[in-house]
Amino acid sequence: MSSHPPTSFPKDRIKVLLVENIHPSAHGLFRGEGFQLETLPGALGEEELIRRIEDVHVLGIRSKTRVTDRALAGARRLLSVGCFCIGTNQVDLTGSERRGVPVFNAPFSNTRSVAELVMAEIVMLARRLGDRIREMHAGQWRKVATGSYEVRHKTLGIVGYGHIGRQVGVIAEALGMHVVFFDVAAKLSMGNNQPTRTLEELLVQSDFVTLHVPETPQTKGMFGAREIAQMRPGSCLINASRGTVVDVDALAVGLKSGQVGGAAIDVFPQEPETNSDGFETPLRGLPNVVMTPHIGGSTAEAQEAIGKEVGAALIKYVNAGVTTGAVNFPQVDVGPTPGKHRILNVHQNVPGVLRDINRIVSEKGANIASQVLATDPDIGYLVMDLDQDVSHDVKDAVGALETSIKTRILY
Ligand code: NAI
Repeated sequence: MSSHPPTSFPKDRIKVLLVENIHPSAHGLFRGEGFQLETLPGALGEEELIRRIEDVHVLGIRSKTRVTDRALAGARRLLSVGCFCIGTNQVDLTGSERRGVPVFNAPFSNTRSVAELVMAEIVMLARRLGDRIREMHAGQWRKVATGSYEVRHKTLGIVGYGHIGRQVGVIAEALGMHVVFFDVAAKLSMGNNQPTRTLEELLVQSDFVTLHVPETPQTKGMFGAREIAQMRPGSCLINASRGTVVDVDALAVGLKSGQVGGAAIDVFPQEPETNSDGFETPLRGLPNVVMTPHIGGSTAEAQEAIGKEVGAALIKYVNAGVTTGAVNFPQVDVGPTPGKHRILNVHQNVPGVLRDINRIVSEKGANIASQVLATDPDIGYLVMDLDQDVSHDVKDAVGALETSIKTRILY
């Protein structure tokens, strides 16, 4: 951050509120910038949130604090919201966009954690560890070799070769597995991982199939009775992607018939809201089934990485106006420009806004050193560097335009 020119706003007036026990890795980043930092252990209800964010510039939450449009309406100083987690459903994304507030999250900080869990599960399934562990806890000593295998030389099929899929592919190869993958997009192979042309081509040759696709209308229910029938008899399925991707009723049928030799499932179509809610699934009690409560990405390292990733994104936005990675905002990443004067403007995406802004700049006698505009259907986001220090005049006039949502001077 220090590579940015000094900001014209006093940094110690930037108020950051972090709730829900966000990892201390983020605290250090904000303190290092000289921002005011307040941290709270628990989630906030709507009324308390409204009261607390009235004069807050940066709000950091995890999954439990709901940032509603009503809460946003009163947060006049709010510049940005950071979700220190993966999901962003808890924030009214449209409302925050309309108010010129970008929302950031950490989609890839727990990639490695998921990949390691999947690797452990492949070995667990190959050795039927779930069953042996359950028997031992029930006081039953059952030393058997039947149905236990090494994973070396077995074929792993990875469906969805993105961040997690590729990590799994690299680790699996290090354990001596053959790795094939199927992705709807063209992907560069890692190591000796081999692409297949179709999902079926992957299924017919894999001893283990692991799913790493996102939740989209196309992937909803994409793994059902037909795909299960295409798997090698006795092969195992791992799902640590999203619960809606697999038809668990069809999987239960496949496990009971022996078509599927085992399954490791971390995500479910209906997951309890809290740890005190009960949980039901047709997979309960079936042999060689390892079930975990959506903990694929839940590690100390992932929490620390999330703190750093989201913290850094928020700081880059406050200091330089960079919106790369924001989930609800046009993406602009303009490096710092020493000796220039930077103004940020969020406006309604209607024709003629840029013309109006440029007219103001020229009337104030300034020269535009650089101007980057990105738009989405609703808003435009402009990062403008001026040669002359007339920023305050320009900011006031641009801010007064009817189309302007938020205007800010950085330096
Ligand atoms: P990513 O976006 O990096 O990769 C997803 C890949 O799937 C992309 O390469 C995409 O082209 C491919 N894909 C999309 N539709 C497909 C289809 N129909 N068939 C085959 N490939 C398809 O995502 P990332 O980070 O690897 O995450 C994958 C999944 O893991 C996501 O569903 C995510 O929500 C989930 N996840 C689960 C966690 C857990 O705790 N269990 C933690 C983190 C992520």
